[in-house]
Amino acid sequence: MIVRILTKFTYITLSLSLLLSGCNKTKDIKAAVVSARKEASDIGITILNKGGSAFDAMIATDLALTVCFPNAGNISGGGFLVYRTASGEVGSLDYREKAPLNAYEKMYLDENGDVIPEKSTLGGLAVGVPGTVAGLAEIHSKFGTLSWEDLVKPAIDLAMNGYIVTEKQERSFRNKKDDFIKINGENTFYAQDFKAGDTVKNIALAETLKRISKYGAKGFYEGPVAESLIKRVREAGGIITHEDLIKYKPVWRKPLNFKYKNLNIYSMGPPSSGGVCLGQILKMIEPYNIGQYYHNSEKAIQLIVEAERRSYSDRSKHLGDPDFNKIPYNQIISNKYLNNRMKSFSFDLASQSKDIQAGKISWTESEETTHYSILDQKGNAISVTTTLNGSYGSKVFVEDGGYFLNNEMDDFSIKPGFANMFGLIGSEANSIKPEKRMLSSMTPTIVMKDNNLYMILGTPGGSTIITSVLQTILNVYEFGMDIQSAINAPRFHHQWLPEKIEFENGVFDEVSMKKLQEKGYDIKQDYTRVIGRVDAILISKNGIITTGADPRGDDKASHLYH
Ligand code: DON
Repeated sequence: MIVRILTKFTYITLSLSLLLSGCNKTKDIKAAVVSARKEASDIGITILNKGGSAFDAMIATDLALTVCFPNAGNISGGGFLVYRTASGEVGSLDYREKAPLNAYEKMYLDENGDVIPEKSTLGGLAVGVPGTVAGLAEIHSKFGTLSWEDLVKPAIDLAMNGYIVTEKQERSFRNKKDDFIKINGENTFYAQDFKAGDTVKNIALAETLKRISKYGAKGFYEGPVAESLIKRVREAGGIITHEDLIKYKPVWRKPLNFKYKNLNIYSMGPPSSGGVCLGQILKMIEPYNIGQYYHNSEKAIQLIVEAERRSYSDRSKHLGDPDFNKIPYNQIISNKYLNNRMKSFSFDLASQSKDIQAGKISWTESEETTHYSILDQKGNAISVTTTLNGSYGSKVFVEDGGYFLNNEMDDFSIKPGFANMFGLIGSEANSIKPEKRMLSSMTPTIVMKDNNLYMILGTPGGSTIITSVLQTILNVYEFGMDIQSAINAPRFHHQWLPEKIEFENGVFDEVSMKKLQEKGYDIKQDYTRVIGRVDAILISKNGIITTGADPRGDDKASHLYH
């Protein structure tokens, strides 16, 4: 395949990749775990080394992230698993949070129908009914090979012995300290000034994990852990009840499946928009053979942006919890429908989103989710994205439990046309109803090529998740990059509204930027947030396994060798 990368980026992507790849390129890798933290990836590998499967490693990795990556790793949020077993069985588990039974459509509006600032993001009312522990227990009962206690133990040990604060983490704690105090008071655990290099021991969390170890999901949804969770939510102004916790059930769903050229892609279907939008965007650009253009050149950017514009507008209208909405699956990712959507596209001029209802856009909240990819020595593949939504969720900290609660309720459309923290606008399909799941963008994905396992990938990033997964797949498949370079490469994002293309800062070619502006595109290069943090595994045609961990975070790949 011809590699077409603009010279400036060749330097950036290759030099970064040389720095970072180190030991990640070897013929000898037989299994890998790539996650947001070295501790969690190492724990996953330890489980594989003990003879556990990718599913076992998933449970241990997930719980380890709860300890050492408290901004997103969680027992009190939710997530999605997409898997493919070595024998070719494919499936997905939805353990997304739900709206509490006492939730109602206008719960974040005042008497004039205006949105009350921060109600859906900060404090107890922002908390959705957590799904993570029920999800992990469900995965264990279907696929676990090691004992549940053995899988929880490494996280208990990590909480007892402590994890080391990284520099990025020190910044993250510092940035959120005022909110921690505002919601939880001066003496809250994470109001301490943890510095890079410090060891954080979270004994309260170790105790919570011990109950989960002993009693499984019931250790979280019933008994003293449930009691203290509900007490804390109530104190912080929330409405979750024991009945909410007891009723929570994860759901096995058919993954969203579509083809792009000779790739067969499995991703998460609703209540995530990830799979549908990834499918729509890839299928809209497929007829244009994007690999003929230079990577991140004006034309390649235009194609992706215009497909994204169309897809995100569909997202806002048609997608929501499939248990509450009829989703037009067949139509929405059909070639006929998508070719028709692209009829108005031209390389000459930007399309306009302005004739479609606009919302108030805010980008103020920093955000956090986490993704990990696992491949075990037998060939089982796991792709998991999990979240508290915002960084440290609602900031409500259950002091005697050692963990933060999510603020996933903000992913609902809290008022038609009002943008959530990711600037996303929704409609009735994603309105709040008791026990409904809020629409997500999480896109845990598994890609097959010519019937062989090819990529396992995903990322955090709110609304930018979809584009980050998309660009990583294209960077490898269309632009011939190795997996680490594909992850390192600069990203951009468009989501229909706001009308802007958001570029990672300072790394895009000025000539292309100028040409795009001349065609009517609104360019925004001064966002400080990162667009995705992709963790991925690539398997070549001859079975060579390579891994890529995103340098935008502290992400790390750990391996098992032959
Ligand atoms: O489900 C969603 O789409 C969001 N709650 C994800 C949040 C997220 O990715 C934040 N991370 N950077």
